[in-house]
Amino acid sequence: MRTQVAIVGAGPSGLLLGALLAKAGIDAVIVEQRSAEYVLGRIRAGVLEQVTVDLLDEVGVGERMHREGLKHDGFELCFGGARHRIDLYGLTGGKRVMVYGQTEVTRDLMNARHAAGLPTIYEADNVAIHGWDTDRPSVTYRKGDETHTIECDFIAGCDGFHGVCRASIPPAKLQTFEKVYPFGWLGVLSRTPPVSHELIYANHERGFALCSMRSHTLSRYYVQCSLDDRVEQWSDEMFWDELRARLDPEAAAKLVTGPSIEKSIAPLRSFVTEPMRFGRLFLAGDAAHIVPPTGAKGLNLAATDVGLLGHALIEHYHEKSSAGIDHYSARALRRVWKAERFSWWFTTLMHKFPETGAFGQRMQQAELEYLVGSQAARTTMAENYVGLPLEG
Ligand code: APR
Ligand code: PHB
Repeated sequence: MRTQVAIVGAGPSGLLLGALLAKAGIDAVIVEQRSAEYVLGRIRAGVLEQVTVDLLDEVGVGERMHREGLKHDGFELCFGGARHRIDLYGLTGGKRVMVYGQTEVTRDLMNARHAAGLPTIYEADNVAIHGWDTDRPSVTYRKGDETHTIECDFIAGCDGFHGVCRASIPPAKLQTFEKVYPFGWLGVLSRTPPVSHELIYANHERGFALCSMRSHTLSRYYVQCSLDDRVEQWSDEMFWDELRARLDPEAAAKLVTGPSIEKSIAPLRSFVTEPMRFGRLFLAGDAAHIVPPTGAKGLNLAATDVGLLGHALIEHYHEKSSAGIDHYSARALRRVWKAERFSWWFTTLMHKFPETGAFGQRMQQAELEYLVGSQAARTTMAENYVGLPLEG
């Protein structure tokens, strides 16, 4: 088989890139090691920046998001037994975020791809990339008893943190930067109305907590937990008690609890690979970088990588210019590092770090009080939360 761009991975990055290329008349094939159902089973953050909303609109999959997504003009910080609002809309001159689950973004992109009859190979085994440092790259995979080869002009590595693309680059050709945090997030999804109409991020001496949502009837909650904890040790009742203990009295009293429909523990990590291009291979999304979930930048960074890469490839094919693909890595990394900084800062501000002791705890308290008292500090937080401009 021959195509112009072989895309490895059918997560949000791969699917969005496929949609951008298809719209420009560029051929692409997506190769995914899992089934479509498995991909849709992953529950991840659901706060979309305006640039992500714009990209989904550009490829024509924004209709359900605009109908069902919730526009949020602010969020709340909870500490010392009280909540304080960050007025995103007022502080940023009219910007807001869209709360719409990543699973739904993925489903909309998948349905549109399927309806357009565009090729996605699910459950592909032993996916491997070849010749990315030559003029004739290719991707191979096994399906059933047969090995298939896709010859292509370019390979897009959209295969997430554990994918094969980054792993295929000789270590001497790349540099990685990593910070692993000494705790995890225990998340619960429940068919209950959200405790508040906006998100609540809580800093408490027992640890961080987050009240989020997927809709008016579906809530997503998290509590900071130990990396040694096992999901099975956390009954629903224990989870709700722990969440309540970390909220202010009013929110704790209003919290509606119910059976969990999903419960999982996720580790927190900051990670960046440089560069993001190797010859005819481009990395995008989680394949190139990871942010801790505080602030929900993961999907937004993936979308903006893919926006840059998609437009660069379109420029290559339509205008015969390599400027976009030559600058892809540097342009994407400038934005990546800013989002890494914000996610690291917000994580550091809100979590309990046993090793920093009472001093660290007082520093957090002082910074939170500074934020609440200073419009300049709140503006900094708000402009990062709604998303920095693409070329910032
Ligand atoms: N071959 C083919 N596909 C693979 C391989 C492989 N060797 N390894 C992984 N994949 C697939 C995975 O099964 C997954 O469906 O690549 C896809 C990568 O998807 P994601 O991990 O969702 O990564 P990405 O599309 O970049 O989306 C980034 O995910 O972690 C969140 O916060 C992050 O929201 C952000 C989003
Ligand atoms: C979520 O809804 O899963 C979510 C929301 C905001 C975050 C992180 C996760 O900062």
